[in-house]
Amino acid sequence: MTVMDFGAGTGLICSHLVSKVYKITAVDVSQAMLENLSKKTELQNRVEGVCQDITVQPLDLQFDVIVSAMAMHHVKDIDNLIKALVSQLKPNGQIALADLDTEDGHFHSENTEGVYHCGFDRKELKHLFEENGFKNVEFVTTHTIDKAGKPYPVFLLTAILIK
Ligand SMILES: C[S@@+](CC[C@H](N)C(=O)[O-])C[C@H]1O[C@@H](n2cnc3c(N)ncnc32)[C@H](O)[C@@H]1O
Repeated sequence: MTVMDFGAGTGLICSHLVSKVYKITAVDVSQAMLENLSKKTELQNRVEGVCQDITVQPLDLQFDVIVSAMAMHHVKDIDNLIKALVSQLKPNGQIALADLDTEDGHFHSENTEGVYHCGFDRKELKHLFEENGFKNVEFVTTHTIDKAGKPYPVFLLTAILIK
């Protein structure tokens, strides 16, 4: 199975997946994050870092699975991101994307750059993914982050792309 980790950062998700899949392409716009990722010995050989904004220039590759954790809220145009994901998934490819549920804007400290969404509304997101050809769009609450005594639930969206 080939996997893309969108917004891979330092490779936290890659570390959990690497022993279970054939290859992971870790995509991030931050070279510094990818340099940290490349230092992790357990990821060497099986994880390739790619510093590219796939919402501007998708990779010329197709994956069985695309995963992502806490990266979508850094992308301004979500419809454009979904279209980029579609172009990089094989027929019947699957996604597993984790991010914040709609929050009050206090998850990030004021003036944090590059935050375009205060989480996401599950119904709106489901609609957007379905419009772009995904089926079986489902959500579970996968985690709750505690920040300053406030709970911030994190959803995991899973779906399959019928092409
Ligand atoms: C909050 S971090 C999450 C990192 C990692 N997924 C984790 O869970 O530890 C968000 C990451 O998304 C990356 N990012 C933001 N916009 C991006 C884009 N358009 N394409 C790829 N990565 C992006 C950031 O550089 C950052 O590494």
